[in-house]
Amino acid sequence: MCGIVGYIGERDAYPILIKGLKRLEYRGYDSAGVALMNGNLNVYKKKGKVNDLVDFIGTSNTKGNMGIGHTRWATHGIPDDLNAHPHLSGEERLVIIHNGIIENYAPIKEWLKTKGHTFKSETDTEVLIHLIEEIQKDGDLSIEEAVRLALTKVVGAYAIVVIDRLDPNKMVAARKSSPLVVGIGKDEFFIASDATPIVEYTNQVVYLDDNEIAVLTKNDGLKVINIENEVQRPLVHEIDMKIEAIEKGGYDYFMHKEIYEQPNTIADCMRGRLNVQEGWARLGGLSQYKNRICNADRIIIVACGTSWHSGLIAEYLFEDLARIPVEVEYASEFRYRNPIISEKDVVIAISQSGETADTLAALELAKKQGALTYGICNVVGSSIARVTDSGSYIHAGPEIGVASTKAFTGQVTLLSLMALTIAYERGTISTNRYQELISELGRIPKKVEETLKCDDQVKVVSEKMKDSSNALYLGRGYNFPVALEGALKLKEISYIHAEGYPAAEMKHGPIALIDENMPVVVVATNPSAHEKIVSNVQEVKARKGVVIAIVNEGDSVLKEIADLVIEIPLTLEPFTPLLSVIPMQLLSYHIAVMRGCNVDQPRNLAKSVTVE
Ligand code: F6R
Repeated sequence: MCGIVGYIGERDAYPILIKGLKRLEYRGYDSAGVALMNGNLNVYKKKGKVNDLVDFIGTSNTKGNMGIGHTRWATHGIPDDLNAHPHLSGEERLVIIHNGIIENYAPIKEWLKTKGHTFKSETDTEVLIHLIEEIQKDGDLSIEEAVRLALTKVVGAYAIVVIDRLDPNKMVAARKSSPLVVGIGKDEFFIASDATPIVEYTNQVVYLDDNEIAVLTKNDGLKVINIENEVQRPLVHEIDMKIEAIEKGGYDYFMHKEIYEQPNTIADCMRGRLNVQEGWARLGGLSQYKNRICNADRIIIVACGTSWHSGLIAEYLFEDLARIPVEVEYASEFRYRNPIISEKDVVIAISQSGETADTLAALELAKKQGALTYGICNVVGSSIARVTDSGSYIHAGPEIGVASTKAFTGQVTLLSLMALTIAYERGTISTNRYQELISELGRIPKKVEETLKCDDQVKVVSEKMKDSSNALYLGRGYNFPVALEGALKLKEISYIHAEGYPAAEMKHGPIALIDENMPVVVVATNPSAHEKIVSNVQEVKARKGVVIAIVNEGDSVLKEIADLVIEIPLTLEPFTPLLSVIPMQLLSYHIAVMRGCNVDQPRNLAKSVTVE
């Protein structure tokens, strides 16, 4: 949610900032801007995408060895040129970029007005830079001290970078609940919301912690203090991210590339954790807390969006295989409903980005109440990964398309490994069943590869569905969450209204919607529910609904009844979501392309939701 990038060193900052903003554009794309320091502060900002900013800047002066850039996802104030970042202070001495929300901006703004400040934008960010300026002027303070004191007065979440025109060799950054990574090069520093703009220059990074302030000074290293002004010892990490992982590699869209990466990303998730020859599944993150997790009264899963759908699949996996009661909660609801949590509970947070504000807050609540917390994240070093007692990475590599695809299958793979490990420890499945599941899980990457061959059938279905205004997605058991996920994918990138429903629940309401204009996508790949789902399909057909069925190869029954079928390989029931979600992802992708939508940057969305 909002992308931040900064550079200080000997190079020309502008190309680094623009390239960085393009890499971060998935975090927000309402407007973009840069500020360049070359004795003067040159600020350029524009509503729209980074390319609009580049066109707007044209041949203007972009000189400077220090600069900051921002791509915005609007919170306070509509997306326009004035509300775009960077924001200058009243005397135009300071400039800021910000990701997050300053919740108490209104009283601060009123107070600043009494001091003579006037504001150009509707943003909370402009209020913050005026506050920093006021504090700096009042005490004749260094920029880092003014930033620190100002931050003691604000409530909310932020990742900020500030430059002072009168202190031209320094950049000050601070974070609370919004990520910031400092890249350390030779006589140069980078700063960004995540490592993607940094990796092509250095693999040495420092992840700032909450309430930390980084002072990056040219030729004088990195200093980190906390908000209490205590010097901190930054830990330098070596990151392992390949540049190809953040480029489109011949695909038109990141989403398409990421869908096709899944045979590999699922295999990467299993690496070192599943051994088919020796017949075991193991998770490093579980070992330290094995007893506590295996003897938990309850597993509570907190997540949002697609990650919440993975959580629902985990409910089936854990209850079916490991026989532990599971509750799956929207993180945003959980945190505000005074939930009952005990020390015998294990709370699992699932999050691709590891930065989702609601999920993070739900975790913190669970931690306070004594539960053991476990994070399942993709982004290495992310906030959730760092605050949890233990956890596992899914190793899907950077997911840049806003619609989550490979992170979903990575999460479900990880949760399958987790369920198997716990089931084995608890003795809730027989050795034969355990071995059968281990062997089949090992075959999943290959089967995903085969599933991707359904792309041509999906294109035919997409042609038929692309002009619909509504769609219904139905599934049962393990594939009910897949129906929810299919509907979410269609909504978010194609702007077609879609609802996911448990197939049997349809007759309690949604069946009223069915007529010849309503495409109904039915996920019918779980063997145990086949007959039941056939009956549900008959109910739809009896009301002239158009049925698109995702079926196992050789399913002659549904082939006969459904209007269109997409065939995918057969697998064991607990792993069916890993295959049946693939045609769902492809369907939404092709429909979005056919409708002329920007697949990777759907309207109003951003990849990493770091605000409530
Ligand atoms: C949908 C999607 C979102 C995210 C949600 C949670 O395609 O990407 O629904 O799943 O915003 O994000 P993470 O997993 O980063 O916590």
